[in-house]
Amino acid sequence: MPPPHFSNLTVLDHPLIQHKLAILRDKSTPVKDFKQLVNELAMLMTYEVTRDLATEPVEIDTPLERTTARKVAGKKLTLVPILRAGLGMVEGISQLIPSARVGHVGLFRHHVTLKPVSYYFKVPAAETDRDFFILDPMLATGGSAVAAVTKLQASGATRIRFLCLVAAPAGVQAMLDAHPTVPVFAAALDRELNSQGYILPGLGDAGDRIFGTR
Ligand code: PRP
Ligand code: URA
Repeated sequence: MPPPHFSNLTVLDHPLIQHKLAILRDKSTPVKDFKQLVNELAMLMTYEVTRDLATEPVEIDTPLERTTARKVAGKKLTLVPILRAGLGMVEGISQLIPSARVGHVGLFRHHVTLKPVSYYFKVPAAETDRDFFILDPMLATGGSAVAAVTKLQASGATRIRFLCLVAAPAGVQAMLDAHPTVPVFAAALDRELNSQGYILPGLGDAGDRIFGTR
């Protein structure tokens, strides 16, 4: 059966992304490599996710003459990792966008109800021309992602994108239902969730694999 189509979802299936994701999924990949791969994947995805950012002309003196070049317009872009696992994506993106601000949203998924539990929120001021990239390797039921966008919007943010590595159809649908104007970018759209809300085939518990807990 072909994978479902979602109008809010872009799957970034560049060969390098697929290659690194295959290693990430492997249960024998050690913590050190897993952490590095999450950062590398986030970095590779950034190229596509930022493709339509607005630019503006700037006057530059090259060593030879004055010229007009272009720079990204607007306020400093802000990365918003969902704690904990989203932290694993920050460094890779920051290497490409060193001036990015970083906000934090603390959410964990209750292990029985699978509902998001909020414990922290601190993001830079949400001026209208500031872009926010919410980061979380996993979009499973979508509860955490939907809650993070809701909180960010309540703080005034309007320009929001959601970046994950592995998405489940249920999570993408939940985002479409709750926040239809927020684009979702993923390295893969997986098959389904199991009865505990884990993504199949997935990669297991992203936070545990990044931080070596369990
Ligand atoms: C994981 C993951 C997402 C969430 C996804 O975090 O990093 O935040 O689950 O599931 P959902 O789409 O069903 O909400 P977890 O709650 O395990 O917390 P952690 O990052 O602190 O390990
Ligand atoms: N959170 C994870 O870390 N992995 C899953 O498969 C689902 C939620």
